[in-house]
Amino acid sequence: MGRHLLGAKQLSRADVERVLDHAAALDPGSSTDRRSGALLGLCFFEPSTRTRLSFEAAVKRLGGDAIDMGAIEASSVTKGETLADTVRVLGGYADALVLRHPSQGAARMASEFVSVPLINAGDGAGQHPTQTLLDLYTIRENVGLDGLNIGITGDLKYGRTVHSLSLALTNFDVSQYLISPESLRLPRSVRYDLDEAGASVTEHTDLESVLPDLDVLYVTRIQRERFPDEAEYRTVAGEYRIDAATLEDASDDLIVMHPLPRVDEIASDVDETSHAKYFEQASNGVTVRMALLDLALGGDGIFAEDDARSLAEWDDEDKRDERERNGGNQGDEREEER
Ligand code: NCD
Repeated sequence: MGRHLLGAKQLSRADVERVLDHAAALDPGSSTDRRSGALLGLCFFEPSTRTRLSFEAAVKRLGGDAIDMGAIEASSVTKGETLADTVRVLGGYADALVLRHPSQGAARMASEFVSVPLINAGDGAGQHPTQTLLDLYTIRENVGLDGLNIGITGDLKYGRTVHSLSLALTNFDVSQYLISPESLRLPRSVRYDLDEAGASVTEHTDLESVLPDLDVLYVTRIQRERFPDEAEYRTVAGEYRIDAATLEDASDDLIVMHPLPRVDEIASDVDETSHAKYFEQASNGVTVRMALLDLALGGDGIFAEDDARSLAEWDDEDKRDERERNGGNQGDEREEER
């Protein structure tokens, strides 16, 4: 078994259930001494509020403590230190590491240089598997995890929370409705894994037409910082904006989720409706990360090894897709069953 948690592809149904059951057995908001003396190393090369603080809260509530690399500007990274050297050194100080980095694949690369468990807390437009665990926890607590229609909307191309959630959902009896502008559809690498897993996935550009069928609507921010070109960002910004009026056609039981931070994709009038679950989702982050850290610090490998394919290979194919899209077919509604 692997010691590291790098991507959602490593998560089987049994793995997910083990973490979620463990989280459900923990008393939210309470502290224990289960991992007293454990030290968690926080290496954040990209901004973070929830992820960093919920990991810190989680290890402290387990009786352990965190050491934090702090802002990049205050670390040796500014002296030109490589990621490999940084994690190798921090891995010697801590019992587990949490890494966030702007480059896709950074967590996998870094994991080769550490012997303690390394947890990917977001690698560029790649994966964000611990967000997925808390997303699944929130879904399970509210509507169960099988027999669901789940809509995922916003930036499916660059959104790492989407990539991880979509893969993890293949373990469950879920139909996924992927709703985005044509230019922000899921990358081919993720689609490949969904196909391999036999996922039930349809792609849409129009939210209104599928909204009434949904049990869960997972909204994401357009990942402005990942766009190579600001003008390209502006063409898609604000395209999917949900407010209380939008939700009038939805089922009364629909839950609306968002990994946060939101910009303007969910209007604040949704916060007062019974649909809104994003703040509950964020607070589940501590409990779920407590459960995960408790297992990870337990010594044995916790998840299957990561066996994702090379990024360069997928990059070429994504670029080919983009060229094809720009060559024709623009604006077509694609609703093919995968
Ligand atoms: C997400 C992330 O960093 O990918 N945030 C988070 O971890 N809750 C989503 C985002 O930044 O849009």
